[in-house]
Amino acid sequence: MAATPRIDILTLFPDLVEPFLDGALVGAARRKGLLDIRVTDIRDFSTDRHRSVDDAPYGGGDGMVLKCEPVVAAVEEVAGGDAQVLAMSPRGRPLDQARVVELSGAKQIVLLCGRYAGFDERILQETGAEEVSIGDYVLSGGELAALAVTEAVARLVPGVLGNPESPVRDSFSSPKGSAPARAGILEHPVYTRPPVFRGRAVPEVLLSGNHAEIERYRRAEALRITRDRRPDLLENADLGAESDPE
Ligand code: ADE
Repeated sequence: MAATPRIDILTLFPDLVEPFLDGALVGAARRKGLLDIRVTDIRDFSTDRHRSVDDAPYGGGDGMVLKCEPVVAAVEEVAGGDAQVLAMSPRGRPLDQARVVELSGAKQIVLLCGRYAGFDERILQETGAEEVSIGDYVLSGGELAALAVTEAVARLVPGVLGNPESPVRDSFSSPKGSAPARAGILEHPVYTRPPVFRGRAVPEVLLSGNHAEIERYRRAEALRITRDRRPDLLENADLGAESDPE
């Protein structure tokens, strides 16, 4: 992301997202001027005297549909020419770390939060929004999804995390990161003091001081956990020259 990355969240419930954006990691980054995050209330763009933002679906059916006029007006108000507009929706393409890395290169990200039965299809067509899902489950609105995107992108902005190396160490990171997670597989287990908790001891190797052994152990554990829980990740993993220890 160039200069100070800008993220706009468009929602009917600013009070749901604002406390998160003021707290912990994202709030601290905003106060340091590392992130420019703005929240827009879609209702401010409604044009009728009832401030309505939704209406019944043509053809019948449950729930209310978000209306074109206020949502498109809100997007057009905030989005610059090269903004990436994303509509939060369980129908969208599932978010993954590769997409987060791509998004972290955008000048501006506009996150559109739906509620009710969904967006009038013409909102998506008119704004060029890409639908994004954060998982195969249904939330009552896109706000939590927008915050997930915001935090995932924010932590890739230089200076947001204390340790500049941390992002690449995480599970799912690119092959440029450190072992074992550089391969795009799940993270190995970690431990801290005490050495024994309720009879459960920290694996001996981690106390050995032998860094090559520790690295081998961690890689084997990362592969074991990935194989157990997410074997699909191994298909695209970059396991490098070292062979699988098993
Ligand atoms: N809105 C409701 N459910 C959602 C999901 N799973 N992902 C993104 N936006 C949503």
